[in-house]
Amino acid sequence: MVLNKSVFLKKKIVLGITASIAAYKAASICSRLADMGADVVPVMTPNALNFITPITFSSISGNKTIVEQFANEKKIYHISLSHSADIFLIAPASADTISKLSYGICDNLLATSAVSATCPVLIAPAMNESMYLNPIIQKNILRLRKSGKYFFIGPKSGNLACGEKGLGRLEDEDIIIERLGELLNYSSDLKGKKIVITAGGTREFIDTVRYISNRSSGKMGYALAEEAYFRGAEKVILISTVRNLPQPYGVDVKYVEDSSGMKKVLDKYYSTNDVAVMAAAVSDIIPLKKYNFKLKKKNDILSRISFKENENILKYLAKEKKKNQYLVGFAAESGYNSRDVLEKIKDKNIDMIVANDISREDIGMESDYNEVDIVRQDGAVKKLARDKKRIIARGIWDEIVKSLTER
Ligand SMILES: Cc1cc2nc3c(=O)[nH]c(=O)nc-3n(C[C@H](O)[C@H](O)[C@H](O)COP(=O)(O)O)c2cc1C
Repeated sequence: MVLNKSVFLKKKIVLGITASIAAYKAASICSRLADMGADVVPVMTPNALNFITPITFSSISGNKTIVEQFANEKKIYHISLSHSADIFLIAPASADTISKLSYGICDNLLATSAVSATCPVLIAPAMNESMYLNPIIQKNILRLRKSGKYFFIGPKSGNLACGEKGLGRLEDEDIIIERLGELLNYSSDLKGKKIVITAGGTREFIDTVRYISNRSSGKMGYALAEEAYFRGAEKVILISTVRNLPQPYGVDVKYVEDSSGMKKVLDKYYSTNDVAVMAAAVSDIIPLKKYNFKLKKKNDILSRISFKENENILKYLAKEKKKNQYLVGFAAESGYNSRDVLEKIKDKNIDMIVANDISREDIGMESDYNEVDIVRQDGAVKKLARDKKRIIARGIWDEIVKSLTER
C-alpha cells in the first residue's frame, strides 16, 4: 500500500468504537492515525466499555475518550465534536449502531455525533455473518450508503470470533486507513470554491393564479447543492423554485418563481462564483403578457393569452462567463445522442452538459433516481448508471472536479 501519510497531519478524526469483539483492533488504528499526526478523538458507545477500556484510547490518542452523552456541562459535544471533525470513522461498527444511524436514533454520544456529522462518516462493520447478511441489516447499510454521507469499508471473510468462518471480520487496518485518507481528500476537493446551482421548474405566470410550468421537482439541484457543501465548498447558493423540499444543510437557498426572477438572482451572484450548475428546468416559452388580476371565463381567456419564446438563460450565462468560471448545463430530452449534446455545448460555450432521458418513468423528473450522460467540452462522455440522485450528484461533481484540476 502506498499511503500518503501527510494526508492525516493535523486532521481531526473522530474514532467511534462500538461493542464488537473486534474493538481491540481500534486501538491499533488509533495509534497509527495518531502517529501520522492526526488529532484523534475517541468516542465509545457505553456498551463498548464491556470490551475495552477508555483509558487505552485516551493514552494512545492523547485526547480524553468520550463516552457519556450528558457528561459535558460546558461543551455541546454531540454537535461541536462532529462539526469540527474532518472525518469520522466507526471501527468496528456493530449491527446495532449501523441500524441506529440508519434510522437516526441518537441514544448515545457516538450515534448522536455520527447523525449530526457534516463530514464523511466511514463505517467498518464487524459482526457474525448471519447478522451481516440479515436482509434488515443489509437494507440499513444500503439506506446509509444512498444518503451520501456514509461510506462503508469491509467486512472481509475469514475466521470469526464465534468459531465460525464467514463474512464479517473487520476489514484490514491498512485498507481502512487508506480509504480514510481518500475520503479526507474527497471531503475538501471543493474547498474555497463558490458555487451557484439552480433547481426546479420555473412558473411563468399568465395571471395572478395561472401559470405554465413543467414537471421538474428540483431534487437533482438539491442533491448537487448538498453534495457541494459536503465536499467543502466555501459557499453554495441554491436558486430554487420549489419550496416543498427540505433546505439542504449549509446551503443558502434563494427562492424564486419565474425565469426572470431566477435571472435576476443569477445576475447578482453568477459573476463571483467559480462553478455554476444550471439544473433548473427553465420554461422555453412564457406568456406574452402577464395579467395582474385573475382572468375570468367571460373575459374570453383564450383570445387574451399567447406565448413567446423565452430567453435562454444558459446561453446568456455562457456569454457572460469569465475564463476562470466553469458552467454546467442540463439537457432533459426525450431520447438523445451524445453528438447532439456536444453540438449544444459548442454552440453555447458551456463546459459540461448533463443529459438525461426524460421519456423514462424510472428516472429524471420527479423521480428520486437518475441516470445521466456527462458530456464535456472536449467530447469526453461519462455515463452514470441509474442511482439515487445524491449518488448521481457525487458522480457529476467528480467530473467537474476532474475538469477543474485538468485546467
Ligand atoms: C462477546 C460479544 C461479542 C459481540 N460482538 C459483536 C460484533 O462483533 N458485532 C456486533 O454487531 N455485535 C456484537 N455483539 C453484540 C453487541 O455487543 C450488542 O448488539 C450491543 O448492543 C451493541 O452496542 P453498541 O452498538 O451500542 O456498541 C457482541 C456481543 C457479545 C456479548
